Amino acid sequence: MLDTLIADIAARMATAPDRGQVARYIPELAKVSPAHFGIAVVTADGREHVAGDADLSFSIQSVSKVFALVEALQAHGERVWQRVGREPSGSAFNSIIQLELEQGRPRNPFINAGAIAVTDLIAEGNEPREGIGAILRLVRSLAGDDTINVDGAVAYSEAATGFRNAALANYMRSFGMIAGPVETTLQVYFHQCAIAMSCRQLARAGRFLMHAGRCPTSGKPIVSPERARRIAALMLTCGHYDASGEFAFEVGLPAKSGVGGGILAIAPGRASIAVWSPGLSPQGNSLLGTKALEELSRAMGWNVFNPPPAC
Ligand code: DON
Repeated sequence: MLDTLIADIAARMATAPDRGQVARYIPELAKVSPAHFGIAVVTADGREHVAGDADLSFSIQSVSKVFALVEALQAHGERVWQRVGREPSGSAFNSIIQLELEQGRPRNPFINAGAIAVTDLIAEGNEPREGIGAILRLVRSLAGDDTINVDGAVAYSEAATGFRNAALANYMRSFGMIAGPVETTLQVYFHQCAIAMSCRQLARAGRFLMHAGRCPTSGKPIVSPERARRIAALMLTCGHYDASGEFAFEVGLPAKSGVGGGILAIAPGRASIAVWSPGLSPQGNSLLGTKALEELSRAMGWNVFNPPPAC
Protein backbone atom coordinates (compact mmCIF):
# COMPACT_ATOMS: atom_id res chain seq x y z
CA MET A 1 0.00 0.00 0.00
CA LEU A 2 2.76 2.46 0.98
CA ASP A 3 4.70 1.69 -2.21
CA THR A 4 1.65 2.33 -4.38
CA LEU A 5 0.83 5.50 -2.45
CA ILE A 6 4.27 7.08 -2.80
CA ALA A 7 4.58 5.98 -6.45
CA ASP A 8 1.27 7.74 -7.10
CA ILE A 9 2.36 10.86 -5.19
CA ALA A 10 5.70 10.96 -7.04
CA ALA A 11 4.03 10.55 -10.44
CA ARG A 12 1.66 13.44 -9.77
CA MET A 13 4.37 15.69 -8.29
CA ALA A 14 6.64 15.03 -11.29
CA THR A 15 4.12 16.68 -13.61
CA ALA A 16 2.62 19.31 -11.29
CA PRO A 17 2.62 22.65 -13.14
CA ASP A 18 3.07 24.95 -10.12
CA ARG A 19 6.49 24.02 -8.69
CA GLY A 20 7.58 27.15 -6.77
CA GLN A 21 10.85 29.05 -7.28
CA VAL A 22 14.30 27.50 -6.95
CA ALA A 23 16.51 29.42 -4.43
CA ARG A 24 18.44 32.11 -6.30
CA TYR A 25 20.42 33.85 -3.56
CA ILE A 26 22.96 31.00 -3.52
CA PRO A 27 24.10 31.00 -7.19
CA GLU A 28 24.97 27.30 -7.24
CA LEU A 29 21.45 26.35 -6.11
CA ALA A 30 19.90 28.47 -8.88
CA LYS A 31 21.32 25.95 -11.39
CA VAL A 32 19.18 23.06 -10.07
CA SER A 33 16.21 22.06 -12.24
CA PRO A 34 12.79 22.48 -10.59
CA ALA A 35 11.63 19.33 -12.40
CA HIS A 36 12.91 16.95 -9.71
CA PHE A 37 10.80 15.17 -7.15
CA GLY A 38 11.95 12.38 -4.85
CA ILE A 39 10.60 10.64 -1.76
CA ALA A 40 12.00 8.01 0.62
CA VAL A 41 10.22 6.50 3.61
CA VAL A 42 11.97 4.24 6.12
CA THR A 43 9.37 2.53 8.28
CA ALA A 44 9.88 1.37 11.88
CA ASP A 45 10.51 -2.23 10.68
CA GLY A 46 13.54 -0.92 8.72
CA ARG A 47 11.97 -1.29 5.28
CA GLU A 48 12.73 1.39 2.69
CA HIS A 49 10.12 2.67 0.27
CA VAL A 50 11.25 5.05 -2.44
CA ALA A 51 9.84 6.77 -5.53
CA GLY A 52 10.92 9.38 -8.09
CA ASP A 53 14.41 10.90 -7.74
CA ALA A 54 14.98 9.28 -4.33
CA ASP A 55 18.61 8.41 -5.07
CA LEU A 56 19.73 11.75 -6.53
CA SER A 57 21.84 13.97 -4.27
CA PHE A 58 20.75 17.48 -3.38
CA SER A 59 21.98 20.19 -1.04
CA ILE A 60 20.41 19.56 2.37
CA GLN A 61 20.92 23.21 3.47
CA SER A 62 18.91 23.94 6.62
CA VAL A 63 18.02 20.29 7.22
CA SER A 64 21.66 20.14 8.44
CA LYS A 65 20.62 22.33 11.39
CA VAL A 66 19.01 19.26 13.00
CA PHE A 67 22.29 17.32 12.81
CA ALA A 68 24.34 20.30 14.03
CA LEU A 69 21.97 20.61 17.01
CA VAL A 70 22.46 16.92 17.84
CA GLU A 71 26.25 17.31 17.56
CA ALA A 72 26.22 20.40 19.81
CA LEU A 73 23.96 18.70 22.39
CA GLN A 74 26.22 15.65 22.44
CA ALA A 75 29.34 17.79 22.91
CA HIS A 76 28.03 20.61 25.11
CA GLY A 77 24.79 19.38 26.69
CA GLU A 78 22.39 21.94 28.14
CA ARG A 79 24.90 24.77 27.55
CA VAL A 80 23.41 24.95 24.06
CA TRP A 81 20.32 26.66 25.51
CA GLN A 82 22.38 29.58 26.80
CA ARG A 83 23.02 30.41 23.14
CA VAL A 84 19.59 29.82 21.60
CA GLY A 85 15.97 29.79 22.69
CA ARG A 86 13.13 27.40 21.95
CA GLU A 87 10.49 29.75 20.58
CA PRO A 88 9.18 30.00 17.05
CA SER A 89 10.30 33.27 15.48
CA GLY A 90 7.37 34.01 13.19
CA SER A 91 10.01 35.69 10.99
CA ALA A 92 11.89 34.74 7.85
CA PHE A 93 14.72 32.20 8.19
CA ASN A 94 17.40 34.86 7.65
CA SER A 95 15.79 37.69 9.64
CA ILE A 96 17.89 39.95 11.88
CA ILE A 97 15.00 41.91 13.42
CA GLN A 98 14.62 40.04 16.73
CA LEU A 99 18.33 39.90 17.51
CA GLU A 100 18.58 43.53 18.58
CA LEU A 101 15.44 43.38 20.70
CA GLU A 102 16.54 40.14 22.38
CA GLN A 103 20.20 40.91 23.16
CA GLY A 104 21.64 38.81 20.36
CA ARG A 105 20.17 35.48 21.54
CA PRO A 106 18.38 33.86 18.60
CA ARG A 107 14.86 32.54 19.13
CA ASN A 108 15.60 28.94 18.14
CA PRO A 109 18.31 26.69 16.64
CA PHE A 110 16.65 26.43 13.22
CA ILE A 111 16.56 30.05 12.04
CA ASN A 112 19.90 31.03 10.47
CA ALA A 113 21.03 33.11 13.48
CA GLY A 114 20.28 30.24 15.87
CA ALA A 115 21.98 27.67 13.69
CA ILE A 116 25.07 29.87 13.40
CA ALA A 117 25.16 30.19 17.21
CA VAL A 118 24.88 26.39 17.56
CA THR A 119 27.60 25.86 14.97
CA ASP A 120 29.81 28.32 16.85
CA LEU A 121 29.75 25.92 19.83
CA ILE A 122 30.85 23.06 17.55
CA ALA A 123 33.54 25.24 15.96
CA GLU A 124 34.84 26.54 19.32
CA GLY A 125 38.60 26.08 19.62
CA ASN A 126 38.76 24.13 16.36
CA GLU A 127 39.93 24.71 12.83
CA PRO A 128 36.99 24.91 10.36
CA ARG A 129 37.77 21.46 8.96
CA GLU A 130 37.52 19.86 12.41
CA GLY A 131 34.07 21.34 13.02
CA ILE A 132 32.85 20.29 9.58
CA GLY A 133 34.41 16.86 10.14
CA ALA A 134 32.47 16.40 13.39
CA ILE A 135 29.12 17.15 11.71
CA LEU A 136 29.93 15.03 8.66
CA ARG A 137 30.97 12.07 10.83
CA LEU A 138 27.68 12.27 12.71
CA VAL A 139 25.61 12.42 9.50
CA ARG A 140 27.53 9.52 7.96
CA SER A 141 27.10 7.35 11.03
CA LEU A 142 23.36 8.17 11.33
CA ALA A 143 22.82 7.27 7.67
CA GLY A 144 25.27 4.32 7.80
CA ASP A 145 26.92 5.70 4.69
CA ASP A 146 30.51 6.93 4.44
CA THR A 147 30.06 8.20 0.89
CA ILE A 148 28.10 11.28 2.09
CA ASN A 149 30.10 14.46 1.53
CA VAL A 150 30.09 18.24 1.30
CA ASP A 151 29.47 19.74 -2.16
CA GLY A 152 32.44 22.11 -2.36
CA ALA A 153 30.94 24.21 -5.17
CA VAL A 154 27.80 24.93 -3.11
CA ALA A 155 29.85 25.77 0.00
CA TYR A 156 32.06 28.13 -2.01
CA SER A 157 29.04 29.71 -3.70
CA GLU A 158 27.36 30.43 -0.38
CA ALA A 159 30.56 31.69 1.26
CA ALA A 160 31.04 34.11 -1.65
CA THR A 161 27.52 35.54 -1.31
CA GLY A 162 26.63 34.96 2.37
CA PHE A 163 26.58 38.62 3.39
CA ARG A 164 23.37 38.27 5.38
CA ASN A 165 24.75 35.37 7.41
CA ALA A 166 28.00 37.29 7.96
CA ALA A 167 25.91 40.18 9.27
CA LEU A 168 23.98 37.88 11.63
CA ALA A 169 27.20 36.31 12.92
CA ASN A 170 28.97 39.63 13.45
CA TYR A 171 25.92 41.09 15.16
CA MET A 172 25.72 38.14 17.56
CA ARG A 173 29.48 38.41 18.16
CA SER A 174 28.93 41.99 19.32
CA PHE A 175 26.59 40.65 22.03
CA GLY A 176 29.07 37.90 22.99
CA MET A 177 26.65 35.21 21.74
CA ILE A 178 29.33 33.96 19.38
CA ALA A 179 32.67 33.21 20.97
CA GLY A 180 34.90 32.08 18.15
CA PRO A 181 36.29 33.92 15.14
CA VAL A 182 33.27 34.74 12.96
CA GLU A 183 35.10 33.51 9.83
CA THR A 184 35.67 30.04 11.30
CA THR A 185 32.07 29.70 12.47
CA LEU A 186 30.73 30.78 9.08
CA GLN A 187 33.00 28.38 7.22
CA VAL A 188 31.70 25.47 9.29
CA TYR A 189 28.09 26.68 8.84
CA PHE A 190 28.37 27.09 5.03
CA HIS A 191 29.94 23.64 4.68
CA GLN A 192 27.36 21.89 6.89
CA CYS A 193 24.59 23.47 4.76
CA ALA A 194 26.37 22.22 1.61
CA ILE A 195 26.26 18.54 2.65
CA ALA A 196 24.78 16.63 -0.30
CA MET A 197 22.45 13.70 0.32
CA SER A 198 19.71 11.78 -1.45
CA CYS A 199 16.23 11.31 -0.01
CA ARG A 200 17.15 7.71 0.84
CA GLN A 201 20.27 8.79 2.75
CA LEU A 202 18.39 11.58 4.53
CA ALA A 203 15.50 9.30 5.59
CA ARG A 204 18.09 6.84 6.95
CA ALA A 205 19.83 9.63 8.87
CA GLY A 206 16.49 10.55 10.50
CA ARG A 207 15.73 7.03 11.78
CA PHE A 208 16.98 7.69 15.30
CA LEU A 209 14.30 10.36 15.72
CA MET A 210 11.47 7.91 15.01
CA HIS A 211 13.08 5.47 17.48
CA ALA A 212 13.17 7.80 20.53
CA GLY A 213 16.83 8.71 19.94
CA ARG A 214 18.20 5.18 19.44
CA CYS A 215 20.31 4.02 16.53
CA PRO A 216 18.10 1.49 14.71
CA THR A 217 20.98 -0.86 13.91
CA SER A 218 23.10 -0.87 17.10
CA GLY A 219 20.29 0.04 19.54
CA LYS A 220 22.65 2.54 21.18
CA PRO A 221 21.30 5.98 22.15
CA ILE A 222 22.33 8.82 19.82
CA VAL A 223 20.41 11.18 22.12
CA SER A 224 18.25 10.41 25.17
CA PRO A 225 14.51 9.83 24.63
CA GLU A 226 13.89 13.22 26.27
CA ARG A 227 16.24 14.98 23.84
CA ALA A 228 14.69 13.17 20.88
CA ARG A 229 11.25 14.44 21.99
CA ARG A 230 12.60 17.95 22.43
CA ILE A 231 14.31 18.01 19.02
CA ALA A 232 11.03 16.82 17.49
CA ALA A 233 9.14 19.56 19.38
CA LEU A 234 11.49 22.17 17.91
CA MET A 235 11.09 20.70 14.42
CA LEU A 236 7.31 20.93 14.75
CA THR A 237 7.25 24.49 16.12
CA CYS A 238 10.24 26.03 14.29
CA GLY A 239 11.26 23.68 11.44
CA HIS A 240 9.48 25.65 8.73
CA TYR A 241 10.19 29.19 10.01
CA ASP A 242 7.22 31.51 9.49
CA ALA A 243 5.31 28.65 7.86
CA SER A 244 5.68 26.28 10.86
CA GLY A 245 2.12 26.81 12.07
CA GLU A 246 0.72 26.11 8.62
CA PHE A 247 2.86 22.98 8.30
CA ALA A 248 1.68 21.69 11.70
CA PHE A 249 -1.91 22.51 10.66
CA GLU A 250 -1.71 20.63 7.36
CA VAL A 251 0.82 17.86 8.05
CA GLY A 252 1.10 17.52 11.83
CA LEU A 253 4.59 16.01 11.86
CA PRO A 254 7.91 17.33 13.19
CA ALA A 255 9.92 18.30 10.11
CA LYS A 256 12.85 20.41 8.97
CA SER A 257 13.11 22.05 5.56
CA GLY A 258 16.04 23.41 3.56
CA VAL A 259 16.32 25.85 0.65
CA GLY A 260 17.74 23.05 -1.47
CA GLY A 261 14.14 21.79 -1.50
CA GLY A 262 14.57 18.91 0.93
CA ILE A 263 12.40 18.17 3.97
CA LEU A 264 13.04 15.57 6.67
CA ALA A 265 9.84 14.60 8.52
CA ILE A 266 9.41 12.19 11.41
CA ALA A 267 6.34 10.13 12.28
CA PRO A 268 7.41 9.01 15.78
CA GLY A 269 7.42 5.22 16.14
CA ARG A 270 6.36 4.86 12.51
CA ALA A 271 8.58 6.39 9.87
CA SER A 272 11.42 8.68 8.86
CA ILE A 273 10.52 10.46 5.63
CA ALA A 274 12.61 12.56 3.23
CA VAL A 275 11.18 14.47 0.28
CA TRP A 276 12.90 16.66 -2.26
CA SER A 277 11.64 19.11 -4.85
CA PRO A 278 13.79 22.21 -5.45
CA GLY A 279 11.01 24.76 -6.07
CA LEU A 280 10.20 26.75 -2.92
CA SER A 281 7.26 28.57 -1.38
CA PRO A 282 7.70 32.29 -0.58
CA GLN A 283 8.84 31.25 2.94
CA GLY A 284 11.65 29.13 1.48
CA ASN A 285 10.18 25.65 2.00
CA SER A 286 9.76 23.04 -0.74
CA LEU A 287 6.36 23.62 -2.33
CA LEU A 288 5.76 20.13 -3.72
CA GLY A 289 7.66 18.46 -0.87
CA THR A 290 5.14 20.00 1.53
CA LYS A 291 2.21 18.95 -0.65
CA ALA A 292 3.56 15.40 -0.81
CA LEU A 293 3.89 15.24 2.98
CA GLU A 294 0.32 16.53 3.36
CA GLU A 295 -0.95 13.72 1.15
CA LEU A 296 1.23 11.05 2.74
CA SER A 297 0.41 11.99 6.33
CA ARG A 298 -3.31 12.14 5.61
CA ALA A 299 -3.41 8.83 3.74
CA MET A 300 -1.33 6.99 6.36
CA GLY A 301 -2.87 8.68 9.42
CA TRP A 302 0.65 9.78 10.41
CA ASN A 303 0.03 12.89 12.49
CA VAL A 304 1.31 13.48 16.02
CA PHE A 305 -2.12 14.82 17.00
CA ASN A 306 -3.94 11.59 16.12
CA PRO A 307 -4.95 9.71 19.28
CA PRO A 308 -3.31 6.28 19.70
CA PRO A 309 -5.46 3.44 18.24
CA ALA A 310 -6.75 2.31 21.70
CA CYS A 311 -8.57 5.63 22.35
O1 DON B 1 22.10 30.12 5.44
C1 DON B 1 21.37 30.00 4.47
O2 DON B 1 20.71 30.93 4.01
C2 DON B 1 21.27 28.62 3.82
N1 DON B 1 22.55 27.96 3.87
C3 DON B 1 20.28 27.78 4.54
C4 DON B 1 18.89 28.40 4.61
C5 DON B 1 17.81 27.41 4.50
O3 DON B 1 17.98 26.29 4.06
C6 DON B 1 16.45 27.89 4.87
N2 DON B 1 15.49 26.83 4.71
N3 DON B 1 14.49 26.60 4.22
